[in-house]
Amino acid sequence: MKRSPAPSLPPRVRVVEVGPRDGLQNEKNTIPAATKIAFVNALTAAGFQDVEVTSFVRPDRVPQLADAAEVFTGIAKPPNVRLWVLVPNEKGLEAARAAGARHVAVFTAASDGFNRANIGAGVDEALERLTPVVAAAKEAGLAVRGYISTVFGCPYDGAVDAKRAASVSRALLDAGCDELSLGDTIGVAVPSDVTRVLAAHDAAGVPRSKLALHLHDTRGTALANVMEGLREGISIYDASAGGLGGCPFAPGATGNLATEDLLYLLDGLGIETGMSLAAVAEASGIVAAATGRVLPSRARAAWASGAKGTARGGD
Ligand code: HMG
Ligand code: MG
Repeated sequence: MKRSPAPSLPPRVRVVEVGPRDGLQNEKNTIPAATKIAFVNALTAAGFQDVEVTSFVRPDRVPQLADAAEVFTGIAKPPNVRLWVLVPNEKGLEAARAAGARHVAVFTAASDGFNRANIGAGVDEALERLTPVVAAAKEAGLAVRGYISTVFGCPYDGAVDAKRAASVSRALLDAGCDELSLGDTIGVAVPSDVTRVLAAHDAAGVPRSKLALHLHDTRGTALANVMEGLREGISIYDASAGGLGGCPFAPGATGNLATEDLLYLLDGLGIETGMSLAAVAEASGIVAAATGRVLPSRARAAWASGAKGTARGGD
């Protein structure tokens, strides 16, 4: 029997599938463009309304996604599905538009150390660079997401001040971003950090309805942090099919929160997503072989084993 979520939790959650971009960008084996296209098509067929397809960054910095234009032009484009691409600058924006993208994501960190390693600029300089990129995208009628990385901690600078992170969010919102995604790039957050960071965003006047959580599961705390996010009213979560992922410029950071694990939790809580775990697990199977490794999602492994298991059979 389907449960209703507790009244304190959102009845519906939007899952932004980032597997084809964040999931694949750090994979060592070169994944053929045709496999990436089949992966994205399986994800949109599975019912996702938001899929981050690729990134238009320097191909020598992220060689795995050097085929961005080929992949983006090759995928099916079902109506009403937001097909996001990551863009770092004007050049990336132009390439994304030339490939037909209508949904772009810009990114900066909340800490200088990671930002320098990732994009070669400190935070203030990155915000200066991104402001005209966001303006140009909005002028062209595109939807713009803004990522803030290292909100909960930086692999180079250590602890990050929540007020500093919230001021970066505020600046991206003021620049014109439609939605912001708060990244736990290296997977260090615990639930009390989520509460603390959201309170700092309240104080900075950033509406919670505009916020997504983008959690990496490096230390196994991602689902606990989702639970805290839900209690705090956050209803947008980024996740990666199979739990693929990691950032080439964040040493030690492992995969994103696995979409299958997120869906198992949300389904069990009675929260609507419009997605089925099995359909996502089938989609992640398309890239699993090409990566040459076992995907980290635990819910996917249980599904693949055929094990029957639910805590909710009898009510
Ligand atoms: P730069 O070197 O400062 O750029 O790179 P530049 O303007 O000085 O140009 C240098 C050369 O790069 C030029 O080529 C440009 O044309 C070229 P040359 O004239 O020397 O032949 N170039 C480009 N080529 C293709 N596409 C472009 C582009 N831009 C310049 N867009 C830049 C700055 C940011 C572009 C670079 O450092 C870069 O691409 N970095 C990669 C960053 C990245 O992809 N990181 C991973 C994604 S972020 C992430 O994973 C975190 C997230 O998931 C959230 C979380 O978990 O926290 C989002
Ligand atoms: Mg990420």
